[in-house]
Amino acid sequence: MAVTMKGRDFVSLRDFSREEIEQLLETASAMKMRQKAGMVDRPLEGKTLGMIFTKPSTRTRISFEVGIWQLGGVGLFLSADELQLRRGETIEDTAMVLSRYLNGIMIRTYDHEDVVDLAENSTIPVINGLTDLLHPCQAASDLLTIREKKGDLSGLKLAFVGDGDNNMVHSLLFAAAKMGMDACVGSPAGYEPKKEIMDMAQEEALRTGSELRAVNDPVEAVTGADIVYADVWASMGAEEERENRLRVMDPFQVNDELWEHVASEAVFMHCLPAHRGEEVTDEIIDSPASVVFDQAENRLHMQKAIMALVM
Ligand code: CP
Ligand code: NVA
Repeated sequence: MAVTMKGRDFVSLRDFSREEIEQLLETASAMKMRQKAGMVDRPLEGKTLGMIFTKPSTRTRISFEVGIWQLGGVGLFLSADELQLRRGETIEDTAMVLSRYLNGIMIRTYDHEDVVDLAENSTIPVINGLTDLLHPCQAASDLLTIREKKGDLSGLKLAFVGDGDNNMVHSLLFAAAKMGMDACVGSPAGYEPKKEIMDMAQEEALRTGSELRAVNDPVEAVTGADIVYADVWASMGAEEERENRLRVMDPFQVNDELWEHVASEAVFMHCLPAHRGEEVTDEIIDSPASVVFDQAENRLHMQKAIMALVM
């Protein structure tokens, strides 16, 4: 039976049951099919989504803005620089004010606690469009892409290589654990996933039988993987560490040599933007195994499902 998610915040995949994630996937798939068949879904007629950004974005901004419009609503782009937040208005007061005008808020920012704070103080749903800690909209969309390419999620092996202490990794660990996929993160020492996230994901994994590991050897990470995932080595906010990260993460590049160890029919995934020639070579990202632009497209379909279900 379908569960209702009306009014819920979408801050972390950890807050959603496997059944709810299945429902998001079903809704996103159905919306995608209907859109491709030229049908119009407008469940959010007359509703407004505020979109707060303190970091740049191509995919998130455009897919949310187009998505809410396709659902019959309107998206308001709110640059954090132009809000009174910049001049010291509190997140709590901002949350209460925005709740009087809007029907939902999407926020992309640095500190994850700011999103939690905004969600706790808003009376409307808050959707996490990326923090330093998590990127749940991308991971949920990626589950849709993986399901389209590989079928049943349960039992698949996902390998992530590169910066393991990364928002994508953390959300993918929750996604894998919830859906019964195995995940192995290969990173240099000192760049492993955050322990508290790994511990929380392991609790979920115990329930679904998924195996989660963190290793320091890229070959060990990708051996037998059905999905190989990469992200930039220096995320937004870590730019000053870029030179050092480029040096230590170099052995974790996804290239033809590393690809020799993956499972047959493996797919390459990347949330984008990619730094070609760093975490991945052109040969891999432009190869038939790469599904990166399907991932980008599925942001639209998955986020329409999220908005339609929570707003
Ligand atoms: N993948 C992703 O979130 O892309 P943007 O930073 O362009 O939004
Ligand atoms: N880890 C990257 C993801 C970008 C979508 C970052 O935070 O910059």
